[in-house]
Amino acid sequence: LLFPVILAGGKGERFWPLSRKDRPKQFLSLDGSSRSLLQATADRLIDLVGSCDSLWVITSNQIAEGVRQQLPELPSQNLLIESEGRDTAAAVAWTSLEIKQRYGEDAVIGFFPADHWIADQKAFAHTLSAATQLAASTEAIVTLGIKPTFPSTGYGYIEQGEKIGSFNELPAYHVNRFTEKPNRETAETFLSSGRFSWNSGMFVFRAGVVLKELHTHAPEIIEPLEQHGADIYPQLPKKSIDYALMEKTTLAYVLPVEFGWDDLGDWNAIERLLKKEETPNVELATHVGLDTQGAIVYASNPEDVVVTIGLEDVVIVRDRNVTLVVKKDRTQEIKQILKTLQNDP
Ligand code: GDD
Ligand code: MG
Repeated sequence: LLFPVILAGGKGERFWPLSRKDRPKQFLSLDGSSRSLLQATADRLIDLVGSCDSLWVITSNQIAEGVRQQLPELPSQNLLIESEGRDTAAAVAWTSLEIKQRYGEDAVIGFFPADHWIADQKAFAHTLSAATQLAASTEAIVTLGIKPTFPSTGYGYIEQGEKIGSFNELPAYHVNRFTEKPNRETAETFLSSGRFSWNSGMFVFRAGVVLKELHTHAPEIIEPLEQHGADIYPQLPKKSIDYALMEKTTLAYVLPVEFGWDDLGDWNAIERLLKKEETPNVELATHVGLDTQGAIVYASNPEDVVVTIGLEDVVIVRDRNVTLVVKKDRTQEIKQILKTLQNDP
């Protein structure tokens, strides 16, 4: 038995200007399907556990109403609303406390990002049932490791240690080291060593185990929450679970996963999903290009025409009052420039 929790409070800033304050990434469909990323994640998890009664969502105040509209089947007592986003360590801590209170220390919890694309639901279910068995039978913080394909600096890296056994016919390994978002040089070393996988951002553990680990490694988050409840939320440090816990715990295990996976993290993900061999660019707009290759062109108004000459490897996005033009290898920096833009145009 697993209680799946969707982490749905992120802003998805790297997809700006398509993602905006009032329309975060998880409310969008990026692959042209009729379900948003959040709805697709919920569909996948409800299919996994067989009912929406055990599904939880944690999100921020700003977008809670949107979450209710998108997931009308979610029981209202399973929706946790943060007064202010404090990143994922606080979100994991608060949800784990609530689930422990309702179902006890041994309740197995799975955390799932709201912004993933998963190709094979059957393989996904198989892996999650292995992760649940591992978490239920040992003191484990279970991670799912993705085979890395390039030296990404946007992911966590998991170094595989000794094999500890098999669960649901899948091998499980101890984690020797977890490194969140390494620099390019380190990422290249990790990739070429062959011992590392990418952290998928999904975690499975028992409530009691994660709370104990948070007490050891992140008391600045768990103690105020335990003492004062969620009222203390705005005062909690802003830290992701990867830095706050995963880089420190010795209880991490990894199951290598085989289902097709993609983190729809930034505009380049659109290309990985939609790029066809025969066409030089990915066009979600009326685009007239001369000597243009490797471009991702998006316009929300179908009447807009985007014309390019002599460009390579750029992202061009037109949405409402904003036009963004960025080199493909610098889309991670959209987050930074948003800080300098006054009141998010
Ligand atoms: N409730 C809540 N509150 N959710 C949040 C908050 C918050 O303050 N901040 C982020 N989230 C949600 C996001 O909506 C997303 O679904 C998930 O938590 C992960 O946050 P991201 O901001 O997307 O993290 P990341 O992509 O930089 O890194 C994580 O995922 C990678 C794989 O996609 C890490 O776990 C990496 O190690 C991992 O490789
Ligand atoms: Mg992400």
